[in-house]
Amino acid sequence: MKVFITRIIPESGLELLRSAGITYTEHREKRNLSPEELIAACKMHDALLSVGGNKIDAAFLEACSHLKVVALMAVGYDNVDVAAATALKIPIGNTPGVLSNATADTAFLLMLATARKAFHMHKVIGKGEWGFFEPTANLGMELNGKTLGVFGMGKIGMALAKKCRGAFDMPVIYHNRSRNEEAERLLGARYVSFEELLKNSDVLSLHAALTPETAGKFDAEAFSQMKPSAIFINTARGAMHNELHLLDALQRQTIWGAGLDVTNPEPMNKNNPLLNMPNVAVLPHIGSATVEARSGMARMAAENIIAGLKGAPLPYAVNN
Ligand code: DGY
Repeated sequence: MKVFITRIIPESGLELLRSAGITYTEHREKRNLSPEELIAACKMHDALLSVGGNKIDAAFLEACSHLKVVALMAVGYDNVDVAAATALKIPIGNTPGVLSNATADTAFLLMLATARKAFHMHKVIGKGEWGFFEPTANLGMELNGKTLGVFGMGKIGMALAKKCRGAFDMPVIYHNRSRNEEAERLLGARYVSFEELLKNSDVLSLHAALTPETAGKFDAEAFSQMKPSAIFINTARGAMHNELHLLDALQRQTIWGAGLDVTNPEPMNKNNPLLNMPNVAVLPHIGSATVEARSGMARMAAENIIAGLKGAPLPYAVNN
């Protein structure tokens, strides 16, 4: 049984595949495969371990309907046409949970970096532009006691809320498809409407899945309802915010700052004005980029491959 892997992945996953007697081909070039290249590669394999945003759409799945399993090394599966996979009886797996802490850490880092303009200050020093200590310059804002608004209260949203309660005693409000009683009980989180979330959050952090309902949800209309002192954080998917509207809101000071680990498109163009705004912090989609999270993700993806190739239910299934 042979697996095609779209990127170099941590050894923990490869080791598991080898120990199960599964051979694999890794795409080791530092570039994305075209849809045609992905189909051609998959035709010669029995399973796909997919990293990154390759489109696993109906056209791909129909061309590769022989695949016994598609294992994503990611929690998000917005790049997959799950209904088409289910219709073709192709099991899809993902890697939930193991990256929640790492991703919440990234949101926390962006909140603080934005609040204190840290990335900008770093650049100022590097350019030799820091002259002397000025009591009225470089002022940021404190997060202590500020309200955290979570859009999408799942595992990652809860991990962030826990950190914010512990570190800054932040009250938590959230908006979700349904109530999260655990978050309410353990973290005192309060369910609010989308409008209330926009109006009352001092820091608004996105942790929902990208779906037709959440795509483009954070647009000019949404930003206009936020506090002028609010910080917008996105570590979920770039397509959930409108980047031009966000830039405009920041330039007009409709909101105060933004921290982005995900952008639209990725990579962000190096000339994007957001990169030169003092109260903006941008990272290159490193939410889950810790040794611990990525090793765990590789292991879970390999476990899904092993199960799928045996015809067994996937341990971490999207559509079993
Ligand atoms: C995920 O797990 O969904 C991360 O964003 C990596 O794609």
